Amino acid sequence: MPHDSSQPVAVITGASGFLGGRLAIKLRRHNWQVVGIDSEALPGVLTADIRNIHTLRHTMVPHFDIVIHLASLLSARCESDPTSAFDVNVGGTATLLNAVADKAPPALLMASSIAVFDQEHATDDTPVRPQSVYGTSKAMSELLIADATRRGSVRGHIARLPTVAVRPGPPSGAASAFASTMVKNALDGVDIVVPVPPGRRIVLTSVETAVENLRLLADAIVKEEQAVPKVINMPGVGVDVDAMAEECLAAAPVPIKVRREVAGDVDAIVGSWPSRWESPAAIRLGLQQDPSFASIVAGYKSCDLP
Ligand SMILES: NC(=O)c1ccc[n+]([C@@H]2O[C@H](COP(=O)([O-])OP(=O)(O)OC[C@H]3O[C@@H](n4cnc5c(N)ncnc54)[C@H](O)[C@@H]3O)[C@@H](O)[C@H]2O)c1
Repeated sequence: MPHDSSQPVAVITGASGFLGGRLAIKLRRHNWQVVGIDSEALPGVLTADIRNIHTLRHTMVPHFDIVIHLASLLSARCESDPTSAFDVNVGGTATLLNAVADKAPPALLMASSIAVFDQEHATDDTPVRPQSVYGTSKAMSELLIADATRRGSVRGHIARLPTVAVRPGPPSGAASAFASTMVKNALDGVDIVVPVPPGRRIVLTSVETAVENLRLLADAIVKEEQAVPKVINMPGVGVDVDAMAEECLAAAPVPIKVRREVAGDVDAIVGSWPSRWESPAAIRLGLQQDPSFASIVAGYKSCDLP
């Protein structure tokens, strides 16, 4: 790919994924060049496994302004397969850091997760205390990036995302996938299942807001016009899951029913994440916040990204 110096260049790992694919489209609309990398082949995405340094180095373009590291296994998959979770999420991140270490320290932004925290309340500087394999693997990746930054081989940034909804298609490997399923089923006129006990709260961001915030953050990091904190919580709105179910009922085109079928494995993971969430640094940087769960549902209905 020829390098046009008027266009910033982003390398996105996990570019075939839910957020990676949408972020690539969004960045290109904002005049970025994007090199997408993923182990899953998709048109326009280079095939490389982040655990393989040779293919990574071979795939890496000579010039880029930022690596946006999204390749990862998600929460439920990690809990059922810890070996692969640490191999991909931790080993893959270490290999990626090695693969870019010979550049003039590149900016790197990794999508981390609310799952690095435990229950109740988390703000930007709350100590990490993961209670799941996924959260532990993400916290370990954060440490790897912080250490590479300390050593001067990258300029690392961490964006901790809450659950992103509504995810189209089949449920993902995330324990929180039920939030998206509730909305999709309701809008399709199908009964919905609540797999967590009464009183459970989760923190959500819409896809549009999550992707736009990643773009804004990458832009701020690359432009270096303002100090961007190394670690931030990305904005999200805390919602009671039973209130979500009420909103879903209201949004359904035909009368539907809500059933509670608590799934212990899902609740063990989702219930270990913070139910109250603050992101003051992101708000200071001008990142966006969804006003409510209802607005997330409305956004899903009118979204122009795939
Ligand atoms: N979606 C959410 O609700 C959410 C919430 C918090 C954090 N995050 C983080 O955001 C990032 C993107 O999430 P997503 O929802 O798009 O996930 P996703 O599963 O849709 O996409 C991840 C992509 O990574 C790729 N991948 C996995 N292993 C790989 C490997 N070894 N080499 C190369 N590519 C590999 C997959 O093929 C997939 O395309 C992840 O890091 C995730 O932890 C997501």
